[in-house]
Amino acid sequence: MTIASDLTNRGFHVFKQWLNEGEITDFQDDYASDKAIDNNAYALGKVSPQVLLSIKGKLTSLLESVKTEHVFAPNHLGGGAYFATEKGIDFDWHQDHESLFIQQTHQDYLNIYVPILKPNHTQSNLSIIPIDSWKAAAPEAWKLFEWQGASSARTENGKTHISNDHSGGERVTLNFPIDEISETPCLNPGDALLLRGDMFHKTQDTQTNRVALSVRAWNNRHTVTRDHFLQTCEVKNAFKEKNKSMYSAIASVFEAHSQLTIGELLVRSNAITQQTTPDP
Ligand SMILES: [Fe+2]
Repeated sequence: MTIASDLTNRGFHVFKQWLNEGEITDFQDDYASDKAIDNNAYALGKVSPQVLLSIKGKLTSLLESVKTEHVFAPNHLGGGAYFATEKGIDFDWHQDHESLFIQQTHQDYLNIYVPILKPNHTQSNLSIIPIDSWKAAAPEAWKLFEWQGASSARTENGKTHISNDHSGGERVTLNFPIDEISETPCLNPGDALLLRGDMFHKTQDTQTNRVALSVRAWNNRHTVTRDHFLQTCEVKNAFKEKNKSMYSAIASVFEAHSQLTIGELLVRSNAITQQTTPDP
C-alpha cells in the first residue's frame, strides 16, 4: 500500500534497487548497441523488446502493487526508451506532452524511470514537484493540472508562467519560482522512480553522463475523442510535424471514429504505421 498511497498523495515513489546487477548490465549493453527510436521530437534511445521482456514479470507485479481502487489503475505496459544526457536530454519544467496528445489523459498513466548508468547519485536526477507541495503552495493551480499534461513552465522575475501546449495560451501564473517547491530524489543505477503522468518534472543537470530507462504504463480502457485530438496550438503542431507518421496514422483512425478507447486507437494506428513505415 505504500506505493499506492505515495502515488495518490505525493505523485511519486522511489523503489530502491528495483533492478539487480545482471539486469542493469543487460540494459547497459542494450543502450550501448545504440539504436535510435523512431521519434524525431526527442533524441531517445530505443530499448530492445527482448531486454524489456526479461523484466516483464517485475513490471507486471509492479503494476499490481500500484493499483488503488478507482484511483490509479494502469493495466497496459508500453515499450521503453532511454533518456541520456549525452544525447542532449535536458528538459526544463514540464508535464509530458505526447502521452497527453495521444492518450488525452494522464489518469492511470505511470512513468517507470530507472537510471541504468549514473556516476553520481546526487547529480543528473529528475527533479519533481510533489503533489502535496502543489496543494500547499498553489492548490487552485493544482486543480488545473491534475491528470493533465502538455504544460511548460518558465520562470521570470520571480514568477512562474505555465503554458497550455495542448490548446494554446497560459494555464496560470504563479507568484513564486516553481523550483522553491521542488524535490530531487537521489537515485543509483537500478533504483526505480515511479511517477504519475501528471507530475511536473525537469532534468536536474547534465553534468554527468546519465542514461535512464523509461517504461510507460497506462489504462487502455479510457476513451479518446476526435475533438480532443483536433484541438491544437503552435507547440502541439510542432510535435505533430516532428513525428508525422504516427500522428497521421492517429488522424486517419479519428477520421473513421469520433471516439474509441486508447487500446483500440493504438491497435489501429500501429497497424497503419507498420504498413507505411516497415522496419528496414
Ligand atoms: Fe517528461
